[in-house]
Amino acid sequence: METGKQLSGTLAIAVFTATLGSLQFGYSLGVINAPQKVIERHYAMSLGVWSERSALLENSTEGESSSEDQTHPDVVMYWSLSVAIFSIGGMISSFLVGFIGDFRGRVKGMLMINVLAVAAGLLMGLSRMWKPHIMVITGRAIMGFYCGLTSGLVPMYIGEIAPKAYRGALGTLHQLAIVIGILLSQVIGLDFVLGNDEMWHVLLGLSGAPAILQSFMLPLCPESPRYLYILLGKEQEARKSLHRLKGAYDPASDLEEMRKEKEEADRQPRVSIRSLIFSSVYRQQLFVSLMMHLSQQLSGVNAIFYYSTAIFTKAGVSQPVYATIGVGVINTVFTLVSVALVDRAGRRTLTLVGLGGMCCCAVAMTVGLKFQNNFSWMSYVSMTAIFLFVSFFEIGPGPIPWFIVAELFSQGPRPAAIALAGCCNWTSNFIIGMAFPYIQAWLDSYVFVLFAVLLFGFTIFIYLRVPETKGKTFEEIAAFFQKKQKINKDNAELQQLKTSSDA
Ligand code: GLC
Repeated sequence: METGKQLSGTLAIAVFTATLGSLQFGYSLGVINAPQKVIERHYAMSLGVWSERSALLENSTEGESSSEDQTHPDVVMYWSLSVAIFSIGGMISSFLVGFIGDFRGRVKGMLMINVLAVAAGLLMGLSRMWKPHIMVITGRAIMGFYCGLTSGLVPMYIGEIAPKAYRGALGTLHQLAIVIGILLSQVIGLDFVLGNDEMWHVLLGLSGAPAILQSFMLPLCPESPRYLYILLGKEQEARKSLHRLKGAYDPASDLEEMRKEKEEADRQPRVSIRSLIFSSVYRQQLFVSLMMHLSQQLSGVNAIFYYSTAIFTKAGVSQPVYATIGVGVINTVFTLVSVALVDRAGRRTLTLVGLGGMCCCAVAMTVGLKFQNNFSWMSYVSMTAIFLFVSFFEIGPGPIPWFIVAELFSQGPRPAAIALAGCCNWTSNFIIGMAFPYIQAWLDSYVFVLFAVLLFGFTIFIYLRVPETKGKTFEEIAAFFQKKQKINKDNAELQQLKTSSDA
């Protein structure tokens, strides 16, 4: 039986195991929001800026504390650092994705870096035993470093092992696991679950737990056949790996495709990050990849995630924490919709629909925020717009950038491209996280106009420059860009000839 197009059990295990890394990434993204006040209180106590007056206040009115102490400049500084250091860790480590992935392979790479996740989990889990601010900040830095690596290694591995027909759906599972991680952290971060004075350290420490399970499961996962054949030249091992992933089928066409890529890769010198930046051959693909990641982050989605509670309060919602969990649920549901659609509707269509829809929602949110004082029903407009904004994001602009980079590049430049795109993602995420409160203070109700303008620009860009990659081999995709580059070159030469003959 020809089962090369079926989803085998081993493939399912391999994808599930890899996405435990994405789950951990999502959990770490979301976990820091809910217990902010509780953790700040522990920082204040450990820094010695927790006065007796507030301790008394604490005892008399449970859960409340003196805002005076909590906003002590040192506490604010240590808290901001606890949040921001995660992205800084990711920004730095995303550069190393290519090196780690190629060093001992994708599977061993994921296994090795789990040491970081477990260490980070332990530091945070034990943070009540010694200076919580130091323990949490160190743990978050290491966890960010781990997540920068995992956010590149997981899509790279899945992109390389997925059958062509399911590459989109399986690639989207990375994002699905991220959003499940965010939702999980929101739910168990509620104050009556773990987001309280007694358990907050366990809540943070749990972010290392998926790494333990993943470490037991990774040895069961086959190495990427593309890594084995194209990078190491081990055809027999690649064949074995293909059989494990796809069952009993004739791997001739897969091997042939890899052979061509190997020939191309052998012809060129190794593509480092530096050579990728300066190479004219890959310029188009690289530009498209970076713009896809920029569109994901500059869409403003994390402004909603990081500041949703504040945004909902401003929109007049009485129980903002539950509205935030509602966003998490919608987020997960629409990522599932994307899993179902992406290999049918295609990456380009879903990204265009998503970005266009988000642009309209950003306009609606602005109208809602602007007129909520005039008409009370306007707060429903803002609420609905926020939910739709997130839904459109998860249909395409959320999941697709993560895996399309692996599709746009052949084996040689792929790790370097994923590293650069990842760094662009983490950096823009960091900038939005830091700058949003200031932009909001400056633009007030018009804050989402800025995102509407950016979204409009990105929609036009995707329409003009991004090809459909659904169902295409890596070689066909590379050929598209090379052809396009040749046409551009020919046009430029023609233009030059024309100008010189006119003169
Ligand atoms: C994507 C983004 C991440 C965001 C998440 C929300 O994974 O990269 O920054 O928080 O989607 O679902």
